[in-house]
Amino acid sequence: MRIALIGFGSVGRGIAEAIVHKNLDLTVSGVADSKSGIIDPAGIDMRAVLERKRETGMCGEEGISAMEIITSADYDLLIEVTPTDARTGEPALGYITAALRRGKHVVTSNKGPIACAYHALRTLADEHGVQLRYEATVCGAIPIMQALENGLAGNDIRGIYGVFNGTCNYILTRMADERLTYQQALLEARELGYAEADPTYDVKGIDAAIKLVILANTVWGLSTTLDDVDTTGIDAVTSDALELAEGQDCTIRLIGEIVPGKEILRVSPRIIPKSHTLVVSGTLNAVMVDTDMAGKVTFIGKGAGSSETASAIISDVLFIRDHHVKRT
Ligand code: HSE
Repeated sequence: MRIALIGFGSVGRGIAEAIVHKNLDLTVSGVADSKSGIIDPAGIDMRAVLERKRETGMCGEEGISAMEIITSADYDLLIEVTPTDARTGEPALGYITAALRRGKHVVTSNKGPIACAYHALRTLADEHGVQLRYEATVCGAIPIMQALENGLAGNDIRGIYGVFNGTCNYILTRMADERLTYQQALLEARELGYAEADPTYDVKGIDAAIKLVILANTVWGLSTTLDDVDTTGIDAVTSDALELAEGQDCTIRLIGEIVPGKEILRVSPRIIPKSHTLVVSGTLNAVMVDTDMAGKVTFIGKGAGSSETASAIISDVLFIRDHHVKRT
């Protein structure tokens, strides 16, 4: 299967590393970052691309754009991993739309277009008989979409609760455990590559809210937008508040909740007992799905990071390769 890879930041690099180091039987025929691109129908040497990116900051040549690759290169599946714009979904929305219109499968980690235009993109994919998958948009390495789609198929999903933002969880953990200030912990999270390009998305709860929108629209077929989510971030949480919680054997976590039956769609910092299932450390995410047959099922795993997000992307790619691409 031939791949076009658009976006070569932390996630793009993680995908390239996986393609280099694992025998995945994938041929990359186009790669672009924000400044450059490369097209080769015979297959691009991803080891060389990784090296060029490290040395020059560019994955290919100036003058070859992402859109040119998407609209003219020869590929079966677009991997779209450019930074998120939560309000417009662009430029990723344009990239994904162009690929679907060409009848190409799309796998993305980009929350913007899925949160802004899920139903339109789904319709476009269906009209062209191709797959649109976005496991990496919610909770990084946790295969929550697969679990909801397949593992828990047949269950009525009553609600979904959890820790959906690794950066906030990291900051709260470091503030409580190491007595770091909010600013110090945020700086660490940025340096480690967990935070969004614009970290206000993380700390103001917007990133978690986007993930709730994606889940609500996918799982329950709703048409919610970011404005429907009652959102409070962690930027006002102080070390004193964490210490106070500590004194009661509790801690503070940024919790997202969707309970359509009760019209709850909310992200907010909550004081919860340290022994609670959703109290996880560092960049871990935790998602509890409340179902009618299976009861409560909780998933815990890394919610951010290069190889962790690449794991979700690669699983979507291989799912499409094995279920939807005819082998010749
Ligand atoms: N910035 C996000 C987080 C990345 O910290 O959870 C994964 O969506």
